[in-house]
Amino acid sequence: MAEPRSIRRALLARLMAPLLMILALSGISAYGLAQHFSQVVLDNWLYDSAMSLANRVRWENGRAVVDLPEGAREILEWDIVDRVYYEVGPLRGERLMGNAFLPLPPSMPHDSAAVYYEGIVSGASVRVLAVALKAPDGNPIIVKVAETRHKRNALASEVLWISVVLSVMLAAVSLLVIWYGVGSGIDSMEKAVRDVRSQHAVAALTPIPIDAEVPVEVVPLVHEINDLIGDLSASHRLNQRFVADAAHQLRTPLAALRVQLELALREHDPERHARAINDAVHVLTRMGHTLHQLLTLAKADEEASDTLPLVDIDLIAREEVERRIDDAVSAGVDLGYSGTGEPILIRGQEDLLREAVANLLDNALRYGGTGERVTVGVETNAPEIYVEDEGPGIPEKERDRVRERFYRIAGTQGDGCGLGLSIVEEIVRRHAGSLVLESGAGGAGLRARFIFPS
Ligand SMILES: Nc1ncnc2c1ncn2[C@@H]1O[C@H](COP(=O)(O)OP(=O)(O)OP(=O)(O)O)[C@@H](O)[C@H]1O
Ligand SMILES: [Mg+2]
Repeated sequence: MAEPRSIRRALLARLMAPLLMILALSGISAYGLAQHFSQVVLDNWLYDSAMSLANRVRWENGRAVVDLPEGAREILEWDIVDRVYYEVGPLRGERLMGNAFLPLPPSMPHDSAAVYYEGIVSGASVRVLAVALKAPDGNPIIVKVAETRHKRNALASEVLWISVVLSVMLAAVSLLVIWYGVGSGIDSMEKAVRDVRSQHAVAALTPIPIDAEVPVEVVPLVHEINDLIGDLSASHRLNQRFVADAAHQLRTPLAALRVQLELALREHDPERHARAINDAVHVLTRMGHTLHQLLTLAKADEEASDTLPLVDIDLIAREEVERRIDDAVSAGVDLGYSGTGEPILIRGQEDLLREAVANLLDNALRYGGTGERVTVGVETNAPEIYVEDEGPGIPEKERDRVRERFYRIAGTQGDGCGLGLSIVEEIVRRHAGSLVLESGAGGAGLRARFIFPS
């Protein structure tokens, strides 16, 4: 048997992937946001430096001059972490001042608008800012300030680590919450199971009560189980009644047998002695018949196998007629077969089908009256096998009751035990067919039809 599935584990496994994805996405977006705002702040600082440098540019006789005293230069260059570079000069021509050669901006800045870009200065990557200052001669002066990326990189990796740690912590907390959340949901189910167990210890086969304690998700399952319990207790009751009836059926002839044999023991007159023995044999024969019927019923009641072999019902009809022909002749009954003689194949259990036909035929011979006709026939369409007689038939209101176990119509002669038609009914059920009891062709008699599913 396969290992039972854990709902808790299955839920966790199913939630894990989307949860991790959400956490990864939120981590990435937190990282991106933090990265963006720290860059904005650092860019603003760079802008401030560029502006204070730009403010040092003066125009003397139409020429640009940078007046940067030593103190101001030190302030501009001072930074513990990064190196700061600057350069001031026209786009073309000699530069005015600077401590490094900085790369040109990808696009020209317009009147004092700033352009930020990346570049490399003496092998280190830098963030550069360029502003253009209007010049009287129309040749603008470009002020460029650059800064190495140490601060930015350190900040980025710090933000990254914080995001990763936060995401992992969030994942752990979420998983714990789910684990315990699902667990407490399942606990209520376990309580319901405990209740049912304690209840069934007291009274077996009672339905499970559906109260507020039962989780909604389990209610359909409980309904199914209750239906099953209903079926089980019905068939249990039926079985109990059947066993009681069967015991009763066998006890009565057993008592009779005992009386006959005791009588025979005490009897000295040979003729009466022989009659008593004869009666005992008769009772034994009846008991044998009842036992046979009980066993057949038990066999028909067993669970059906999955695939049934192909059986020729035409052959069964002919052979059953042959088997009873002598009895029919001695009873003065005209027993015959009706059919084309062609095989009619259905999926079924041959011994049970023979048993069914034998029982219907037995009824026809027994209750059909003397001097009448009895026919065992087959039909191809549907397919079906039927037994028809010209006797008194079964009144319409009795046609359901005669299928019940041990039921015999009041006043019926002969020594049947009332199991024949219930056996047929059981075999019909096993073959997913239907048993139709109707009047014979002329309106009289009985036609019992065993119809197979087409
Ligand atoms: N062909 C028939 N004609 C008239 N009555 C019938 C016919 N077949 C069945 N019955 C009635 O239906 C009752 C039930 O039949 P069923 O075959 O179940 O039991 P049984 O013949 O009495 O006993 P068993 O078949 O177990 O020996 C019979 O007792 C009889 O009253
Ligand atoms: Mg019978």
